[in-house]
Amino acid sequence: EKGGYDYFMLKEIAEQPKAVADTLLGRIDAAGLLTLDEVRIPVHELREIDKVVIVACGTAFHAGLIAKYAIEHWTRIPCEVELASEFRYRDPILGARSLVIAISQSGETMDTLMALRHAREQGSKVLAICNTNGSTIPRESDAVLYTHAGPEVAVASTKAFLTQLVACYLVALYLGQVRGTKWGDEIQAVIRDLSQISGEVERVLETMEPVRELARSVASKNTVLFLGRHVGYPVALEGALKLKELAYMHAEGFAAGELKHGPIALIEEGMPVVVVVPSPRGRSVLHDKIVSNIQEIRARGAMTIVIAEEGDETVVPYADHLIRIPATPTLLQPLVATVPLQVFACELATARGNEVDQPRNLAKSVTVE
Ligand code: F6R
Repeated sequence: EKGGYDYFMLKEIAEQPKAVADTLLGRIDAAGLLTLDEVRIPVHELREIDKVVIVACGTAFHAGLIAKYAIEHWTRIPCEVELASEFRYRDPILGARSLVIAISQSGETMDTLMALRHAREQGSKVLAICNTNGSTIPRESDAVLYTHAGPEVAVASTKAFLTQLVACYLVALYLGQVRGTKWGDEIQAVIRDLSQISGEVERVLETMEPVRELARSVASKNTVLFLGRHVGYPVALEGALKLKELAYMHAEGFAAGELKHGPIALIEEGMPVVVVVPSPRGRSVLHDKIVSNIQEIRARGAMTIVIAEEGDETVVPYADHLIRIPATPTLLQPLVATVPLQVFACELATARGNEVDQPRNLAKSVTVE
C-alpha cells in the first residue's frame, strides 16, 4: 500500500502534484472564474464580511498564516490567524459579519472543533477547509471546501498542507472575485498561474537528490534554524516543525527581519541555517533585505542553505548550499518552497534512524484538548 516507497511520507510527498491538481479540479471554469458552489454561504453574505478569522493547529495553522497574506492582499478584508487552542480561551471578538475559517486535515482536531463551536455560538459563519469527508469539523460548519489530497497516513503532514494552501488561495481569490477589488486582473492572472502550479511542484520533486545528500551531511548537528519573510516566514516555521517532529532536532523558524532583535546571537560556526528567499521580482525590497541577512549570518559562521528562485544570481556568492525552486507569483511561492523542506526533514529522520511515519509521542489526529 506504500506504492513501492519505504514510507508513507515519501509516497505522500510524491503525490503532491496530483493532490494539488485534484484540489483545483472543477473549481475553475472555462472563463477562468472560480466556481466554489460548495461554499454555500450566499454571495450577498460574503460581500458583507468585515473580518476573517482563521483557526487551526500545527501545520494547518501555518497554512492559515500564509492565507492571511493572500486574503488581505486580494480582498482587503482584515484577517487574523490564531492557534485554535489559544483562540477559544481569550474571549475573541466575533459577530455575524465575521467569517471564521477552520483548517484541519483530519476534521477531528479537538482544539479546532472547540474554536469553531465557539465561533458559531457568537453567530459567525464557519467555513471548514478539510481533507476528510464527513468528519466532525465539516459536519459542524456552515460550509466546507474539501481538499482532495486523498488519505494522509504519515503523521507528518505534507500533501494535506499543500492542498490546504490551494484551498486558502481559492477562498481568497473567490472572496476577491465576489466582492470585486482593484486586483481583478491580478486575480485572473493568479488563477491561471495556480492552474499550472502542479507541474512546478513536479519539477521541484525531480531535483531533490542534492537536498537528500545535504540532509545526510547535517544529520549529526544539534540545531537547524529557518529564516523567511512575508509568506516565506510561515514556510520557515513549517520547515522547523517538520524537523522537530521527524528528526527530533532543535529547529526554529524566524522572521528574517527579527534576526538582529535576538536570534542572530544563536549563530555558531557551522550551524545550518535554511533561508527562504522571496522572489527578486515583485517585493524586491524584501529580497534584497534577505540577501543582506544571508551575508550577516554567513559572516558569523553559519552554513547557509539557500532556497531561491531559478535565475536569482544575487544569492550565489553567499550560499553554501543552493536549492532552486521555479519562479512563481510571490504569494504562491510556499507551494514550491515547502517541498524541499519536507524532503530535508524526511531524509534527516531516516539518517538519524527515526521512525518516519510514526514519530515518537505523536498521533495523526489529536482528538483531545
Ligand atoms: C504536523 C502535523 C500536525 C497537524 C495538526 C493539525 O506535521 O501533522 O501539526 O497539522 O495536528 O491536524 P489537523 O489538520 O488534522 O487538524
